Amino acid sequence: MTKHFLSLADIPASELRAILDEAHARKKARASWPKGKVDADAPMDGRTLALIFEKSSTRTRFSFDMGMRQLGGTSITATSSDMQLGRGETIEDTAKVLSRFVDGIMLRANSHETLTALARNASIPVINGLTDYNHPCQIMADLQTLEEQGGDLSDMTLTWVGDGNNVAVSFINAAAKFGYTLRLSCAKGYEVKGQYVEAARSVGAKIEIESDPLKACANSDVVIADTFVSMGDTDADARLKDLMPYQVTDALMGAAAKSATFLHCLPAHRGEEVATSVIDGPQSVVFDEAENRLHAQKAVITWCFS
Ligand code: CP
Ligand code: NVA
Repeated sequence: MTKHFLSLADIPASELRAILDEAHARKKARASWPKGKVDADAPMDGRTLALIFEKSSTRTRFSFDMGMRQLGGTSITATSSDMQLGRGETIEDTAKVLSRFVDGIMLRANSHETLTALARNASIPVINGLTDYNHPCQIMADLQTLEEQGGDLSDMTLTWVGDGNNVAVSFINAAAKFGYTLRLSCAKGYEVKGQYVEAARSVGAKIEIESDPLKACANSDVVIADTFVSMGDTDADARLKDLMPYQVTDALMGAAAKSATFLHCLPAHRGEEVATSVIDGPQSVVFDEAENRLHAQKAVITWCFS
């Protein structure tokens, strides 16, 4: 059966655990190696991954490309506007054609439906590189980062502050799989859809809703921010105004546990969703988090082909 990586909600907890273990092991095995050197086992030798982008990317693009090189394979990157996709060729036909040329596809899509249609019509693994619904690769990197800090995920409280966006949804989808408590502190009108929270709770996720960010951060082990204006959002002015009370400030970090960690998937907007003193301060691990996109995704890729 073709293994796709589309949503953390679809993948058994034991398999996600194994992916994280593999990410830690692969990172450790090549510590201090040159970045272009191939891992000893070269598990993707002879394989090529297509990297397709309907929207901008720095981390996802470079981490997937370097990840494939380190796994002994290769990648081909294209934006949808470089492809006939941008001129109206269907995603279904694109899936069938690319399945004849390459061994797997990573897609960053505007609409989650585009991603699922790609997966339904491809005979090769499809990996989600972010959609309007979720961003599962990001959360695998984030959880790897928290474990590196010495955290036991099943014993942690993570607080999401601001916009209930695609990244928040993947934290919700992973909550039951890893056992952490997730507190959501979103501005009015920017909450995560109730159906996503209910679906996660129905499979055991511990999710708390607290609209006051100061109360939500109290004694939290992790405070998480993301941009107030995601790619595709067309109401930037309203969002900046409505979401400013949810900026992660020193006061919010001060309410969290003394040893609390600050996460942000990047790109960041200092002075909007996070104060400069927080993101560039001692509790921030955002660049480890960015690096771990590489290690976590290498484990996702090998899982897809296992
Ligand atoms: N965090 C993340 O996905 O970054 P990019 O948009 O740069 O890929
Ligand atoms: N929520 C952001 C994440 C970017 C990596 C967006 O979708 O633009």
